[in-house]
Amino acid sequence: MLIRRPWQDSRLLPTNETLNITTPGARGWATISINDRSDRVMSDITAVVTGGAGFIGSHLCRALLDRGWEVHCVDNVLTGRATNIEDLRDNPRFHFIEHNIIHGLPDEPAEPQFIFNLACPASPVDFGPLALEIMRVSSEGMRHLLERARETGATILQTSTSEVYGEPREHPQEEHYWGNVNTLGSRACYDEGKRFAEAMLMNYRWLHGVDGRMVRIFNTYGPWMRPDDGRVVPNFIRQALLHEPLTVYGDGGQTRSFCYVSDTVAGILAVADMEASAIDPERPVYNLGNRRESTILEFAQTVIDVCGSDSEIAHQPNPHADDPARRCPDTSKLEAATGWQTQVGLREGLEATVAWFRDELC
Ligand SMILES: NC(=O)c1ccc[n+]([C@@H]2O[C@H](COP(=O)([O-])OP(=O)(O)OC[C@H]3O[C@@H](n4cnc5c(N)ncnc54)[C@H](O)[C@@H]3O)[C@@H](O)[C@H]2O)c1
Repeated sequence: MLIRRPWQDSRLLPTNETLNITTPGARGWATISINDRSDRVMSDITAVVTGGAGFIGSHLCRALLDRGWEVHCVDNVLTGRATNIEDLRDNPRFHFIEHNIIHGLPDEPAEPQFIFNLACPASPVDFGPLALEIMRVSSEGMRHLLERARETGATILQTSTSEVYGEPREHPQEEHYWGNVNTLGSRACYDEGKRFAEAMLMNYRWLHGVDGRMVRIFNTYGPWMRPDDGRVVPNFIRQALLHEPLTVYGDGGQTRSFCYVSDTVAGILAVADMEASAIDPERPVYNLGNRRESTILEFAQTVIDVCGSDSEIAHQPNPHADDPARRCPDTSKLEAATGWQTQVGLREGLEATVAWFRDELC
């Protein structure tokens, strides 16, 4: 049964009734069927989703349950929230295990077919206080997951990040670009942690034949984001809804691309659905994000518009060292391999997100 919430825009409700999708912005799920293998869509598959109580993870859990899969969500709720998965608790195919993957994986499920790793604090506000947890989850935690994949033959999909490109010298960024990261900077815990995780996955592929795949996610936004996570989307929406000035660092000419969460989840599923033989053996990694690039200033204006706010823009010096000036994915590799494409435009996605924030904040 579809549960309609006030922040669910009817235009973003699912079009594919057979998948019985209940996630906001689910129009993007239509892309799932592009490369859907029917056995994986509806049959009895067990997946572990680490970080499943987080923003993207909770949407992924919903999408997998909608496929009929058994989902074991493993999360220590460090940056995730129990409320993100509250609506899933009664589902007999959903299992929540509060657990820190730095110390290993729970024994159950003994033989998952898929391990999706989303466990890692991802917001710049966490890079200082949680720096060691970030590095440990991307190294020790990642090793435990790869070991489980090696022992069980599970496919493991790592959610990497555009941050591996650092302050890119190539634009837009393609997967073959090695990046430009400051190992000594304040973002290094995250950037280098994710780079290490990528390197470890590659070595488990070479040495142990593990079926490992990766997506490098670019900025994703949508309902169930942490309103206080310090990233630009929640910051701007909160400020606009409260009619406060929107804080733009520098002149606002720096660019970002923003991908609606249903498109991100559809991309994760598209890569999970690929046959092992179709995965690029040299670079089993796919950029995942929205190609549409906008300046932070343009983005601030759109948020003000969508919120119907009278907020002004306040320019401030950028407190974040190593903040990249330009970020935009080249997603042609993912598109060619799976047919995946973004479905939700910026304004449409923002309308659904703002509606959710109104509910959350008011
Ligand atoms: N949101 C984005 O724009 C974005 C961009 C690039 C990459 N990513 C990646 O996607 C993944 C999910 O990001 P998100 O935005 O949903 O962040 P999030 O903070 O909402 O989710 C991360 C989840 O991992 C959990 N976690 C952290 N450390 C853990 C540990 N040691 N053991 C078990 N669980 C742990 C947290 O409690 C949280 O629920 C992350 O790996 C992140 O690096 C996200």
